Amino acid sequence: MPDDFLPIAQPDLDDDDVAEVVDTLRSGWLVYGPKTQRLEREFAEMVGAEYALGVNSCTAGLHLSLLAAGVGPGDEVITTPLTFAATANVILHAGATPVLADICADDLNIDPEQIERRITPRTRALIPVHYAGIPCRMDEILDIARRHNLTVIEDAATAAGSGYRERMVGNIGDLTAFSFYPVKNMTTGQGGMVTTNDKALADQIVALRNHGLDSNAWNRYSSEANRLFYTMSAPGFNYGMFDLLASIGLGQLNRLPEFNEKRRVLAGHYTRAFAGLRQIETPAVRDDVTSNWHLYVIRLRDAKVTRAELAAGLKERGIGTSVHYYPIHYHPYYRERFGFRSGDYPVCEAEFERILSLPLFPKMNEADVERVVSAVGEIVG
Ligand SMILES: Cc1ncc(COP(=O)(O)O)c(C=O)c1O
Repeated sequence: MPDDFLPIAQPDLDDDDVAEVVDTLRSGWLVYGPKTQRLEREFAEMVGAEYALGVNSCTAGLHLSLLAAGVGPGDEVITTPLTFAATANVILHAGATPVLADICADDLNIDPEQIERRITPRTRALIPVHYAGIPCRMDEILDIARRHNLTVIEDAATAAGSGYRERMVGNIGDLTAFSFYPVKNMTTGQGGMVTTNDKALADQIVALRNHGLDSNAWNRYSSEANRLFYTMSAPGFNYGMFDLLASIGLGQLNRLPEFNEKRRVLAGHYTRAFAGLRQIETPAVRDDVTSNWHLYVIRLRDAKVTRAELAAGLKERGIGTSVHYYPIHYHPYYRERFGFRSGDYPVCEAEFERILSLPLFPKMNEADVERVVSAVGEIVG
């Protein structure tokens, strides 16, 4: 492996992030407290939502959102097959059944028409996933939800800073869950955020993320403490965000617009550089969205090499790639439990065979992009 390995993604952390973490360590307050509360306020302001609630992962945020929405045994929740396993897993954790609806070929997001066809009297919620940072067709999805009385929980793991029509992702559906995992557009290491404009949903998430208790460490042990003990009204989880990690998120959130702009410029450079290469289809972004360019996903078209050969050729040349995602219905667990078969989701299956995510992160430069494009050209040309 060459020592100038170019990974598919890398966080951009600076001295201010380090200083903020050190400040938290010196403060002695490591769990939920002032830094998390500040990150929550600033994140809510960024997306324009009433409430932003820090959690320790997007997965936790999605799980809590389903529970807050009252999803449970006997219910069905519709989502996309082209997503990370966690999106479907949390539906099982809530005791409900995941139902998959095929995707649109243009942006690889869930197809509203397919959602409509999968609705039954048991359908309770929808989880659209903003694939690669490109928001789904939310007006159509919200319209379906209104007509069938469904809760819309957006999986915005990869969509921090993306926009749809006049709104930021995080201020569209009933609940939205974001991920701050290291490869995401902003990071806290592990971590996530749930946003909502609904006070009742927010209150439930606040309780459920903290064991279902009616108070947290901050209001029991800090100088602002007003509680001597707690009571529990529902068995919850230990899903809260903590200050040690929230302190990384403060600087990251501040730099999110700069990160996303760098990604946009690099993506534009990729697209222009690939223009002469017939075998490569570049990602399309619809006119009604602003992408945060979380991923740069190319698709092979009539190429002499397979996707696996392209990935292997790039790896030999010191370039990391990945596939987002191995479809839910292909995973052995889902196949066995629900009897999914190849052919069930034809658009997803056809597109899955030819997608490959290339390196894209703010610390890259145009020379890196050119290196990737010329390596792809060599392999497919
Ligand atoms: C679409 C999607 N949903 C959910 C998750 C889970 O996020 P987290 O790792 O913060 O739990 C991811 C993470 O990669 C993702 O890509």
